[in-house]
Amino acid sequence: MTPPVRTAILISGRGSNMAALLDAAAAPCYPAEVALVLSNRPDAAGLDHARAHGIEAMCVDHRSYGRDRAAHEAGIQAELQARGIGLVCLAGYMRLLTPFLVNAWPGRMLNIHPSLLPAFPGLDTHARALAAGCKLHGCTVHLVTEAMDEGPILAQAAVPVLPGDDADTLAARVLRQEHMLYPLALRLMAAGLPGQSDPDASLSNPQAYEARLPLPTSAAGT
Ligand code: GRF
Repeated sequence: MTPPVRTAILISGRGSNMAALLDAAAAPCYPAEVALVLSNRPDAAGLDHARAHGIEAMCVDHRSYGRDRAAHEAGIQAELQARGIGLVCLAGYMRLLTPFLVNAWPGRMLNIHPSLLPAFPGLDTHARALAAGCKLHGCTVHLVTEAMDEGPILAQAAVPVLPGDDADTLAARVLRQEHMLYPLALRLMAAGLPGQSDPDASLSNPQAYEARLPLPTSAAGT
């Protein structure tokens, strides 16, 4: 059987999505294994959770590098390479990435974002969805590209916006979906990588992934 893809999860804080990925990856036959949890903040609660589950967890503290983002990312990249990582999952990693790290993982870096992209990229998504009067909100797992929150979408989950919702109640409803969606997306992604047992390998490649999407109605001539 093909070995699971060695996966790193990058966090900055709570790490509830990371915990959901750890749980999923512990199941037999899951095509990814979590080989490393890495935070840019030493006090990220997710680090302790990962260690308690026997996962290597470390901090590459951005403050040690001052304003030198490239050097910080080079430090992260060295840790990823040293462990033979094949996929990177951003899960509440709160640093903007430079093209250096993004381009080191083409089609192999995922992110989860708490909105139905392309709506509401960036921060404060739940408050913004409420202010816009949305009736539907949700979360997105996408490939990471140089433009923030704009990479090819791999999976989405929607929730209703209910009367009386505030940003916290809405965030909690979305987060429950995040914890199901990210493990699903990682499973699809890891199983589709070249060399894995899933014959449908196209999810690992943004161009091939887009080619699989249904043609727009006009182009399809219907
Ligand atoms: C999640 O809402 C995720 O969508 C966003 O940051 C939050 C991280 O939460 N990118 P957690 O650290 O996974 O609990």
